[in-house]
Amino acid sequence: MALAAPVRPALRVGSLELSSPVLIAPMVGITDAPCRELAVELGAGLVCTEMVASEAVVRSQEASLQLLDFPAGVAPAGAQLVGCDPAVMAAAAQVCVERGAVTVDVNLGCPVKKVVGRGSGAALARDVRATAAVLRAMVDAVDVPVTAKMRLGWDAQTINAPELARALADVGVTAITVHGRTRCQGYAGEADWLEIARVKDAVDIPVIGSGDVEDLRLIERRIRSGVVDGVVIARGMLGNFWLVRQASHLLATGELLDDLDFAARIALCRRHLGMLVAYHGPQRALRIGRKYVAWSIKGCNGAARLRAMVQDLDSLDMLDTIFERAVVAGLGPQGWYRPVFTSGEG
Ligand SMILES: Cc1cc2nc3c(=O)[nH]c(=O)nc-3n(C[C@H](O)[C@H](O)[C@H](O)COP(=O)(O)O)c2cc1C
Repeated sequence: MALAAPVRPALRVGSLELSSPVLIAPMVGITDAPCRELAVELGAGLVCTEMVASEAVVRSQEASLQLLDFPAGVAPAGAQLVGCDPAVMAAAAQVCVERGAVTVDVNLGCPVKKVVGRGSGAALARDVRATAAVLRAMVDAVDVPVTAKMRLGWDAQTINAPELARALADVGVTAITVHGRTRCQGYAGEADWLEIARVKDAVDIPVIGSGDVEDLRLIERRIRSGVVDGVVIARGMLGNFWLVRQASHLLATGELLDDLDFAARIALCRRHLGMLVAYHGPQRALRIGRKYVAWSIKGCNGAARLRAMVQDLDSLDMLDTIFERAVVAGLGPQGWYRPVFTSGEG
């Protein structure tokens, strides 16, 4: 007897009905337009820019506006802002929407000194009333769904995510992403999904879990059992975008797709590099793309020599040579492994 395909879990963010509860996380230096395009192609339900400073947006600073590029013909995407002044955040949210963002998210989790030193990111989240004032101003300023992404709290002694989530739901925020670590944990240790579940219990709006989202069966169980309404994939997809396809496919069908073999993993990375070239032009794309190439060849035989080539990567011919050599060399006994990445901005 054939098993019935599992019901696809729905995820609605305000007026938006998402095709999958598997999203990709905003990541500085990663989630540019080509990355978002690839993620949607692989089945992500929603994608987002990296965090963009609200003050820079209202001052029309070119580099920040470039991050708020939503090319026509590419799947809809949200924008993420960081800042702490209600009027500035509201004005920046309007700019995001004018430029094509379909949601506006607020970064309440960034741990880096430059950001928290100005009272933004994880520092803003310490003050529930001040955070609610920022989000209220943004909700009033735009017609698209306004969402927020927070950590559990500043440190283990000051966990306030459930209280903060309730306050934000009260001012009209339509979904909350919770990274299950505190600011003081940075990216170390395991994310605490019991604490994420406490946020889910505290509010009636969708809660999306973040933190070590890599194990496909765990992703499925947490969504199907209602621990969270969705997940965002972050470091788990670095060097392995296929995880997005595997997770979204599993949630849609109940079927577990195999991991890619090494040659197919490299072919996917080559495709991503091609998209980067089309968007940024070859020189910039190769500079941005070096990290993806290095991540995709992790565990390869003779990796040290290839890594040196990646550092000098300056032409598409050289890119293809690196990939050809990697495929011929094949994987060493350890197999492919995910790059260790213990810092970030969010
Ligand atoms: C390189 C890097 C950049 C990040 N940039 C952002 C960001 O711009 N905004 C944000 O909300 N979170 C950011 N984050 C945090 C991720 O979105 C995610 O919440 C975090 O990495 C936890 O998930 P993981 O354990 O699956 O990696 C960043 C993380 C990394 C590693």
